[in-house]
Amino acid sequence: MQSIQEKFIQLFDRAPSLLVQSPGRINLIGEHTDYNHGFVLPAAIDKSAQIAFEHRLDGKIVMHAIDLNETETVSTQTLQPHATSWVNYIIGVVAQVQQYLASTKINNDKLAQLNQGFFICLQADIPIGAGLSSSAAVASAVIFALNEWYALGLSKMQMALMAQKAEHEFAGVKCGIMDMFASIHGEANQVMLLDCQNLTFKYYPLQLQEYQIVLFDTSIKHALASSEYNTRRLECEQGIQIIQQTYPNVQSFRDVTLEQVEAYLAPQKNSSNEINLSLANTKVYQRCKYVVQEIERVQLAVKDLLNGDLKAFGQKMFATHWGLSELYEVSCPELDMLVNFVKNNEHVIGSRMMGGGFGGCTINIIKSSEVQNIIAQVTQQYQIATNKKLHSYQVTIQQGTHII
Ligand code: GLA
Repeated sequence: MQSIQEKFIQLFDRAPSLLVQSPGRINLIGEHTDYNHGFVLPAAIDKSAQIAFEHRLDGKIVMHAIDLNETETVSTQTLQPHATSWVNYIIGVVAQVQQYLASTKINNDKLAQLNQGFFICLQADIPIGAGLSSSAAVASAVIFALNEWYALGLSKMQMALMAQKAEHEFAGVKCGIMDMFASIHGEANQVMLLDCQNLTFKYYPLQLQEYQIVLFDTSIKHALASSEYNTRRLECEQGIQIIQQTYPNVQSFRDVTLEQVEAYLAPQKNSSNEINLSLANTKVYQRCKYVVQEIERVQLAVKDLLNGDLKAFGQKMFATHWGLSELYEVSCPELDMLVNFVKNNEHVIGSRMMGGGFGGCTINIIKSSEVQNIIAQVTQQYQIATNKKLHSYQVTIQQGTHII
């Protein structure tokens, strides 16, 4: 395979000034908690996006996606959501930097330089739509490259927040901060416990003893993923608003107890409370119950990890899965099937769907000596049940976004 540098030279007849590599991510536990002010426990992996960058002078952004063999050109003056989805993760980020520079007058020169445009070439070995955040990896690579080239002086967290906003505004998905955070902040062999309420985080070495992480990819890419994602977010906001009617000091799910969820959101228990009854519905109750349980579960799971109690940690992964499947309703039959295939296997200590849901991968903690056998078994079972080929990835935890 040609290197991204060679491809860039072949396409654009010049060498790139900057190469950036940005990884995909896994998340051990803490799903759909990031936009609910909870905790997540992600890590960057050994699958990444790479970009090659060189400035231009004619006000154009010329972009090439090597894996798709597609080229797109836009003007820096008229950035708006594009019909080609991968383009949005580049220009959405540029639009954020433009807004940032425009709001800080001292940076007028930098804005003028940015608006002169650039070439960008992109390639990735992160499977697309597998829930490994290939798009966040691209957006993170782009913000990292712009920060470096235009000497913007952004912190890593500022970069993650700008990449997140790019996804909100250009891809239309109201995602949380986890994916970009993990891609940018990753460190080899470390998981990160991020408190999504105040964006503080801590690294913990992931000591899996005789176990390792294996992802099973359903190869299902659910068309509903982004619309349902936004709906979940709204349902959770609705739940908070209902609780705030009684507890005005509640700011987020961090201030909400399970008892409050039961008392104010469970529809059947609200018959004496007319206001709540008119607003509450079963879905809102289920979503909020899951979120409150998951926020607590992550904190307990981190304790398990620190105590070296992988079995207890793995049990919580299973609990997360069934919460996501039955209460939050973001799983799909294939994901449930993959968890069911391994749930009684003594060599698999944890398994659950990972990421936004409706397809993508399960994350599994499997005894290293049994990995090959289990991959072979699950592949066969999946083939028989769905007539689909199962892809599996044995991932390792690697450094976050960096210049190559
Ligand atoms: C997607 C989003 C993240 C997060 C997960 C679910 O990956 O991009 O922000 O909400 O889903 O945990």
